[in-house]
Amino acid sequence: MLKEVNATRFIAPLREGGSLPGLVEADDFETYVLKFTGAGQGRKTLIAEVVCGELARRLGLRVPRLVTIGLDPVLGVGEPDERVQDLLRSSGGTNLGMDFLSGALGFDPLAFPVDAEEAGRIVWFDALVNNVDRSWRNPNLLRWHGELWLIDHGATMIWHHNWPGAEASAARPYDASDHALAAFAPDVAAAAADLAPLVTEDLLAEVTAEIPDVWLSDEPGFAAPDEVRRAYARPLLTRAAVVHERITGLEGTR
Ligand SMILES: Nc1ncnc2c1ncn2[C@@H]1O[C@H](COP(=O)(O)OP(=O)(O)OP(=O)(O)O)[C@@H](O)[C@H]1O
Ligand SMILES: [Mg+2]
Repeated sequence: MLKEVNATRFIAPLREGGSLPGLVEADDFETYVLKFTGAGQGRKTLIAEVVCGELARRLGLRVPRLVTIGLDPVLGVGEPDERVQDLLRSSGGTNLGMDFLSGALGFDPLAFPVDAEEAGRIVWFDALVNNVDRSWRNPNLLRWHGELWLIDHGATMIWHHNWPGAEASAARPYDASDHALAAFAPDVAAAAADLAPLVTEDLLAEVTAEIPDVWLSDEPGFAAPDEVRRAYARPLLTRAAVVHERITGLEGTR
């Protein structure tokens, strides 16, 4: 289970983010990036962060530790920024938190070469979860202590917005032509050979078990949270076996 902490102080909004994540201090005295459950994109964004973040971690990719952050809307009282105040007010209860990588730099492909093997693993993973938010314009990769860290998996698994069409949607190809690592000759064949066998039913059950019940309990069309968890696992299991053959847009960049 993800560690559960409670926010004790709102420090500042992280301005770059489209969803306006915030920096908070929690009752374990750590500093976290908080993604609000009341943000425009809704809590499915947070579920995607958990599923993809925890899956990536288990596949050996670097992802900051995830926690859940309990938020008392009263923290918004006295917050001068109206947008932040609204978010704090509408996000009482369970939110997502992520270790704040202090001093991390945004990934710059010109300043930080990535080897073909690592690029391949990241592109393959992004194809698996259908991540449309790792473009060279907005890589959502951080450089911290000389290594690459993956953040921001909110815009993935588009199929979770329409469960009846999930199977068909998950069968679609992944266009990697805009991917932040497309220029590093990503070796997706090697990545697929190494990583696809790891994406088992058991691993996906472990990963989806990390989704807090409260984000799943009233999902329309499902009787219980575990049913929704299985719906998250199924397309990933199917896709893991075939997705490397469905990655397009890398040819001209090798
Ligand atoms: N764990 C972290 N440690 C350090 N900095 C972070 C962390 N998470 C996010 N940031 C910084 O905050 C910015 C916004 O975060 P993130 O991309 O997760 O938010 P978002 O609202 O989903 O963004 P967008 O939609 O613009 O991609 C990042 O680009 C990065 O600069
Ligand atoms: Mg981002």
